Amino acid sequence: MNNALYWLIVITIVTLFLIALLYTKNPSSSVNLFQRENTLSQIDLYRTVVHVPDHNNIACQYKNNKQFYTCSGYCPLSETKRKKCTWLPRTIDQDMLNSKMHCQPQDDSCPTYNAFDKDKLPLTPEGIRHIPKDLLNNFTLSGQISLSYYYNYRGTELNASKLSAQWTAEMIDNLRKMARERKPIGSYSTETLYPVIDIYLDVAIKNKTTAVIGTEMPWIEAILLEYGAKSVQTIEYATIVSHVSNLKTITPQKYIDSRSLPNFELYDSIWCYSSLEHDGLGRYGDPLNPYGDMQTMVKLSCMPKPGGVLVLAMPTSHVDSLEFNLHRVYGPIRYPFIYRHFHLLKLFGRLSTNLGAYNQPILVMQNKIGCL
Ligand SMILES: *[C@@H]1O[C@H](CO)[C@@H](O)[C@H](O)[C@H]1NC(C)=O
Ligand SMILES: *[C@@H]1O[C@H](CO)[C@@H](O)[C@H](O)[C@H]1NC(C)=O
Ligand SMILES: *[C@@H]1O[C@H](CO)[C@@H](O)[C@H](O)[C@H]1NC(C)=O
Repeated sequence: MNNALYWLIVITIVTLFLIALLYTKNPSSSVNLFQRENTLSQIDLYRTVVHVPDHNNIACQYKNNKQFYTCSGYCPLSETKRKKCTWLPRTIDQDMLNSKMHCQPQDDSCPTYNAFDKDKLPLTPEGIRHIPKDLLNNFTLSGQISLSYYYNYRGTELNASKLSAQWTAEMIDNLRKMARERKPIGSYSTETLYPVIDIYLDVAIKNKTTAVIGTEMPWIEAILLEYGAKSVQTIEYATIVSHVSNLKTITPQKYIDSRSLPNFELYDSIWCYSSLEHDGLGRYGDPLNPYGDMQTMVKLSCMPKPGGVLVLAMPTSHVDSLEFNLHRVYGPIRYPFIYRHFHLLKLFGRLSTNLGAYNQPILVMQNKIGCL
């Protein structure tokens, strides 16, 4: 055998051995991601994101180990160009840990559903007092979540007030002044919001492009402007006219259309305060949809940059409940479905402990969709 051929064979064998070694040392999931990095379909982006290594890969615990139907879907608009994300330090919340809220939920039952289609469902022109029988299992996740009935309908009134909303410079200035003085503003007590702003000022606010989802009054918008946001965009169904130059409003449909424009940009941070828990209950005239909140979270996962920040407040407790048609209270069953596409950073505020009682702690997370 000539010398060159001999060395070629030796080098090939050594190389193959090294490759084999490299692959066996990696957990299979990361090998898969690595191999498919450039060919992942957008649906797969959502399927595989749960395999991105996280600290809490234990499966969630359900009564009688039950499997149930959920429909979160995917966002068809995710950037196909993925990027390396930098993960900020995480503070594990002892309360969430104790109540087993850190876990990986079961797979989605309809991963090919376009989450933006939720906006095409019929509106709720009159309040719904009781969940239709054929949707009971959907709303309670096959009885995992306890249900009680209350009633309040605000669709008509809100619709009317929003149709003519004008955000004047004076109104925003007044709200900014309160934010400057760190006074509680908005419809809920905002004491927990100021620490969030202090800690995430540089990564989520200062000179950043931000968006606010679901607004009745522009108080978060005013706080963001006051603390140095480059721009604030409110995404709302109502046609609101803003008279402040770096505060813009857009309807969800126009937002979708804008994504095909060449200068389209994803946001650095998204802020969503107390609206998810109502999504799909019809109380505000929105379509009846048992998975409205989960689908909205999917929509929210394709609006910030990969690794971008999402600040989310909603009623959270050690025990899940559905108080129809008022709101949902998120506990160990439903909460993991909400954050499944996000990397949890820190919870501000406390969880309530009694069934039905709730606080609105603020969860800060980073978007995993689009990250390598
Ligand atoms: C309710 O759940 C069933 C499966 O149990 C599913 O087939 C159906 O599509 C769900 N309905 C809605 C509105 O999602
Ligand atoms: C704001 O951010 C942009 C990049 O998004 C950067 O070019 C600019 O220098 C920043 N301005 C300030 C005042 O930090
Ligand atoms: C809100 O107003 C719009 C325009 O008048 C109407 O098309 C829509 O059905 C209303 N929504 C509700 C929930 O009443």
